[in-house]
Amino acid sequence: MAADQRKEPGVVIKDSWSGYSLELFNYPEHYRGDLECVYIPHGVIMNRIECLARDILEDIGHHDLMVLCVLKGGYKFCSDLVESIKAQSRSANRRLTTRVEFIRFKSYMNDQSTEDMHIIGPDDLSVLKGKNVLIVEAIVDTGKTMRALLQHVETFQPKMVKVAGLLVKRVPHGAAELPDYVGFVIPNRFVVGYALDYNEYFRDLNHICVISETGKQKYKV
Ligand code: HPA
Ligand code: MG
Repeated sequence: MAADQRKEPGVVIKDSWSGYSLELFNYPEHYRGDLECVYIPHGVIMNRIECLARDILEDIGHHDLMVLCVLKGGYKFCSDLVESIKAQSRSANRRLTTRVEFIRFKSYMNDQSTEDMHIIGPDDLSVLKGKNVLIVEAIVDTGKTMRALLQHVETFQPKMVKVAGLLVKRVPHGAAELPDYVGFVIPNRFVVGYALDYNEYFRDLNHICVISETGKQKYKV
């Protein structure tokens, strides 16, 4: 079944989910006290990514893939997703080439989204022309970044554009449109880890966690 028909919202995490106790998991010593809980353990993220890779391969794996990774938050998701797509394509004896380009937005200060949002990255995305583009984003909340990016990418006349989002956050006035491939739908809480940051901290944490008040104060700018 094509993704358009499938339209699964991803794994839906309810507002009542308060996460796993930190005592139960291994995480970097330097973040002791800075976290509230483990929200999505690394192993769960990885398994979910395998499923997204399978769906992507099923839908668009007969074409060559131009992956557009949204930095910095998307680098781990992108890397693990592409590896999984390649591995599953190899096991199925399929021929699939992948190429990755990078793009960057800057719009978050502390845990607040700032109004001015600009694209930093290759000015010339003409390599996207006529290609099957998969935009890979770590997190979608208002959908502003996703919309801006889709518009930007469309100007380079790709053959097809799909979006993969690891996390979709349920925020007031949230994204009207879901990404084509969604890992998890999460409550409106600020999460860090798996390349998601708070003022550049916590990208080196493998689990997705909720930051504590102490953590927020400690790394505030
Ligand atoms: N964590 C990190 N970066 C983000 C988030 C978040 O919850 N939401 C939007 N950017
Ligand atoms: Mg950030």
